Amino acid sequence: MSGQMVLRGGACVTPAGHARASYRNFFHPEQRWMFAGLRLARDANPKLAAGPKPASAFAGDVVAGLSRPHKQLSAKYFYDAEGSRLFEEICDLPEYYPTRTETALLRAKAGEMARAIPDGAALVEFGSGASTKTRILLDAAPQLALYVPIDISPDALDGAVEAIRRDYPALEVAQLVDDFTTAMDLPQAAQGLPVVGFFPGSTIGNFRPEEATAFLASARKLLGEGAAFLVGIDLIKAEETLVAAYDDAQGVTAAFNLNLLARMNRELDGDFDLDAFRHRAIWNRDEGRIEMHLESLVDQVVRVAGRSFRFAAGERLHTENCYKFALEGFEALAKPAGWRVEAVWRWPDPAFAMVLLRA
Ligand code: AVJ
Repeated sequence: MSGQMVLRGGACVTPAGHARASYRNFFHPEQRWMFAGLRLARDANPKLAAGPKPASAFAGDVVAGLSRPHKQLSAKYFYDAEGSRLFEEICDLPEYYPTRTETALLRAKAGEMARAIPDGAALVEFGSGASTKTRILLDAAPQLALYVPIDISPDALDGAVEAIRRDYPALEVAQLVDDFTTAMDLPQAAQGLPVVGFFPGSTIGNFRPEEATAFLASARKLLGEGAAFLVGIDLIKAEETLVAAYDDAQGVTAAFNLNLLARMNRELDGDFDLDAFRHRAIWNRDEGRIEMHLESLVDQVVRVAGRSFRFAAGERLHTENCYKFALEGFEALAKPAGWRVEAVWRWPDPAFAMVLLRA
């Protein structure tokens, strides 16, 4: 048995029954009795790897995410027009408690929260979308001078800003079309005003812990010394409540998740068969997060963004993390970012909290 080479698996010419996890090739390699495939990897050095430039950031992220050993795609790609519409539908589902609970918490406690807002302050909202919850705060804090909604989607902003201007004529509005995770400067109108940040929806739960701290640190820079920051966080609760919120009986969350495949088909010339994947929502207890995945039902090859990707039966595309917090855990993320917890308003059941941070 000396001087032999060992190959695992098999090639397309391997006789049936001979391909196995530890296949032994008993012939010397130079006899070419058997051949094997080599997997080509792209060099990590970008100068050497200079492949064709992706047509868009979406195309680039899809190619990179589907090329990973554990396929993944950023949750930010859920929100095209159809995805945003489906998310609004999710917010009204009986199982999806976060929106309803946070709205009830704001209605009950906005008066107390408003006491943290100084006269003539600017309210800066991260990822404002339709600004529904904001109105509860605006109603409770007439001392606000300026509202600064930040959103990456100009369409979402324009509609919301127009409605806010109409309903709050005394409030100045200065919108910022930007990625709220990287925005560097507040609009000119906010110069010299006391600043209060607002980040409802437990959207902070989409970040991994180190990303959440990095986001909180950049938000602290944006909002400035002495700023207050109201952050909505969903709290850890019974697994069945959590899973049901992300796997509803009507299948709206499944449609929301599968829309990502439809979006790749629409925008990146993909040929995903939506019936060949199923929606999964899994509570990962160790990480404290709900994970959303799209699971391939069959062995298949899909083309998208000019490339082919193989999905084995049962293989998953990881599409979202929704972290659920314990208050101490959230405080531990905020502290290294330069925030201290000044107040907490808690809804007991289903558990949800609005935390007031101070820079
Ligand atoms: C918008 C990130 C707060 O995590 O609950 C809802 C998104 N995904 N159902 C959440 C979502 C599936 C939502 N956030």
